[in-house]
This record gives sequence, C-alpha cells and structure tokens, in this order.
Amino acid sequence: MGPYQYGEPGMTVIALGADHAVFPLKEDLKAWLTTRGHRILDVGTDSLDAVDYPDDALLVAEAVTIGAAARGVLVCGTGIGMAVASNKVPGVRAAACADTHAARMSREHNAANVLALGGRVTGREAAIAILQTGLGTDFGGGRHARRVEKLAALERAIPRAGVSDAPAR
Ligand code: RB5
Repeated sequence: MGPYQYGEPGMTVIALGADHAVFPLKEDLKAWLTTRGHRILDVGTDSLDAVDYPDDALLVAEAVTIGAAARGVLVCGTGIGMAVASNKVPGVRAAACADTHAARMSREHNAANVLALGGRVTGREAAIAILQTGLGTDFGGGRHARRVEKLAALERAIPRAGVSDAPAR
C-alpha cells in the first residue's frame, strides 16, 4: 500500500466514536488520524464504563449528515451494532468492514460515509489498514451512482421519525 493521501479535497474532519468495549482502539485511530492532519470530532466514549453503542452511533451519524464531519468512524465489539444503528439516520451509508477489500468496495461501490470497525475481532494494525483504505478510496460513480441514488430514494419513500425524536442519551 502506498503512502496515505486524503481521499477527497477538504476531507479534514473525521467524527469518531466507540463504545466501552473498544475505546482504546478509538484512541489509537485518533492518534493515527491526527498525525495525518485530520481534525477529530470525538464523541466518546472515554472509559470502560458501559455505554450503549446506538448513542455514539447517532452522534457520529448526525455529524456526518449535517456536514460537521466529512466521514464517520465507529468502533464497537464487532462493528455490526454501530453500522446497524448509524444506518438508521437518513443520509448515512455505514459499512462494517473486517478487511481492506470490504473497505475499498464500501467506498467504490457504496459511497460509504461511515466506517464501522470491530475492535474485538480486528486488531490495531488491521484496523488502521482498513481505515486507511477506506479514506483513500474514491466513490466509483457510473452505475454505482444510480444504485446509491436508489438508496436515497428508499429513504425518501419510507417515512420515519426525525433524528430529533431519538431518545436522550
Ligand atoms: C458491547 O458488549 C457489544 O455488544 C458492542 O460493542 C457491539 O459489539 C455491538 O454490536
């Protein structure tokens, strides 16, 4: 893999969140991202005290959808809960990725804007490689753009409660 480069111009701020199971990995990812010039919007958590992953997922999802962050990165035990939760927020395309191929495809084909990692199943070095791949891969456009637009159409077609109706943390 070549040296890291920003995937998109202006992709400066990354929203980052984790639950208690894996928050040390969030700190490692934060250090890695900061070293590479990103600013981090860290929504927590910062201790081993148990939290509920949907709360962190919502904060990162909102940061991405309002444009406060260019991308989101969420870490829980498997990555699955964070992906499921953040995908409830319209405009989010979250992908739980356990390898670099999935990370590349999630960007190239699905224009994923949130990467979910599983800190109990993916080690630090692999997580960084997955993150680097995701950030460094552009959306492929073309036929994939038509499909991603259909995802947005699904969101418009299915009425749902607004994010502001989400239960308080
Ligand atoms: C927390 O124990 C665990 O359930 C959470 O980190 C995550 O793996 C959920 O998907």
